[in-house]
Amino acid sequence: MCGIVGYIGPKEKKEILLDGLQELEYRGYDSAGIAIIEGKKLHNFKAIGKLKNLREKTKNYTSEGFGISIGHTRWATHGKPTELNAHPHLGAYSYVVHNGIIENYQELKEELQAEGVNFLSQTDTETIVHLFEKYHNRSNDAFPAFKETIERLEGAYGILLITEAAPDMIFFAKNGSPMLIGFDNEDVYFASSDTPLIGKAKEVYYLEDGEYGYVKDGQVHLFNKNEEIGFTKQTLTADKALAQKDGYRFFMEKEIYEQSRVMGETMMGRVLDDGIALDELDKDFFEDINAIKICACGTSYHSALTSAYLFERIAKIRCDIEIASEFRYKEPLLTGDTLFITISQSGETADTLEALKMAKRAGLKSLSICNVDNSSIVRESDAAILTRAGIEKGVASTKAFATQTMVLWMLALYVGQERNSISSDILRQEIDAMLHTPKALIVTDKLHAKLHRLSKRYLHGHGFFFIGRDIFFPLALEGALKLKEISYLHAEGYPAGEMKHGPIALADSELFTIALMPKTMHYDKIKSNVEELSARDATICAISPEPFDLADDFVQTQYSSHPMVEFFEMMVVTQLLALEISIRLGNDVDMPRNLAKSVTVE
Ligand code: AGP
Repeated sequence: MCGIVGYIGPKEKKEILLDGLQELEYRGYDSAGIAIIEGKKLHNFKAIGKLKNLREKTKNYTSEGFGISIGHTRWATHGKPTELNAHPHLGAYSYVVHNGIIENYQELKEELQAEGVNFLSQTDTETIVHLFEKYHNRSNDAFPAFKETIERLEGAYGILLITEAAPDMIFFAKNGSPMLIGFDNEDVYFASSDTPLIGKAKEVYYLEDGEYGYVKDGQVHLFNKNEEIGFTKQTLTADKALAQKDGYRFFMEKEIYEQSRVMGETMMGRVLDDGIALDELDKDFFEDINAIKICACGTSYHSALTSAYLFERIAKIRCDIEIASEFRYKEPLLTGDTLFITISQSGETADTLEALKMAKRAGLKSLSICNVDNSSIVRESDAAILTRAGIEKGVASTKAFATQTMVLWMLALYVGQERNSISSDILRQEIDAMLHTPKALIVTDKLHAKLHRLSKRYLHGHGFFFIGRDIFFPLALEGALKLKEISYLHAEGYPAGEMKHGPIALADSELFTIALMPKTMHYDKIKSNVEELSARDATICAISPEPFDLADDFVQTQYSSHPMVEFFEMMVVTQLLALEISIRLGNDVDMPRNLAKSVTVE
């Protein structure tokens, strides 16, 4: 979703901003812009579409000498993706970039319009720059004007503001949207996540909600409420292990192939011969915990759904799963003996973060399962288990899902082990299955070629049903989500046993059923569900170790002794199917239309 970068110092600014925005590109955006002030010279460039359009527009411009600069990638919320709506937004002599949503912008806009201010865009952000200039015109003092502006804003924001009235200062504020400051001697950088700063800043400070301030003469002045406060910087990794495609056509493809390797990293030091070790959790972490509630969105929600089967079956602990955006407004009944778990690849998903804050206000102990250390969700939680998937750039999540599910499986065993609800024999069997997972995730040339061949038969039709039972039902949901995200074809995930309660009415030869038919779990049950669909002429693509006569297409997986190993192998098949269909349809696999990698607004 939207990305922010900023820089104050003597270096060439255009490239710093564009490079930084490039690092945030994978998060999804539909327009971009930069603004630079060098002494009395103001420069502002905006372009809709990809960053290459902005590069093209700025190709004859290079900044000179000391200056202040801000940049932004915008994912449209208020107003269409047009140049006028793109950030930075200009007042008479100031520019602003903003992530988040200003909830009271309509009221502020009306107030400013009544005073004669002319608005150029439909965005909530533009109110910030006009409000600032209103206060500045009165006081002729930039920082108090900025402070007064911030005090009027309701909602979530990460803000950078520069003004010709103070050409040696950058103003910043954070509330609910991530923002960090990077330091390299006298050079000061800003970004909405750490990736644009790697290789540039040596140290960083992650702003907390409610903090604001300004930079001048290489010094950061940080405030909370009315007080200037101190802060402690932390070292930023210098290892620019930035995800490159390494010969793969798309990041998503690379990330599917990486799953086998990263799974080893997820398990390293945690999956031992005779038990699970989670050093992230205090020994008594589960003391007084009698239930688990998990909140997440999208793919992360699907990994949560999978884990509910495991927590109840293996660990014998009650487990409820909630979609974060629903949980927030349902006035849930929360009891102190419930552990509140959030799952998030990015650690910045607005709904999940807010759900976590709600649970904390209710006094619940919290744990996050996340891929990004230092993200807002990790920092907000009492404890965190990192998934160690590495940077995931494809908007369609793959290795994050695999590693989340693995961490949750480990956690279910850990809870069982700590509560003595699992025998040592079962624990060893589960661990043995875990250790087989990396092998099940290997993408062979044969398998990929098969999915490539099959994909040409699934480019039309009136929809897909992914069906499965038990843990294969959330996998069906995830398979359908992957397909619809990148192919734009309609797909649904369904519990196989539910089809006859309605959806089977859709069955005909143009209805494609992707049937997940593991041999280790309810095989005969799902077989009869698929037979019912076949009898109504639905086109069946069966994924199973067991050959199935009625299948129109058949992808054979390995026989295994454990459902989770079958789960991971089938997961790869559904990911490759979505990938190959999307490629054949000519879609942008890594940055599908309308989607953002990290959804930082409600
Ligand atoms: C995954 O393919 C999606 N792009 C999306 O559903 C994602 O899982 C969801 O937005 C939650 O994101 P998070 O894991 O970063 O919180």
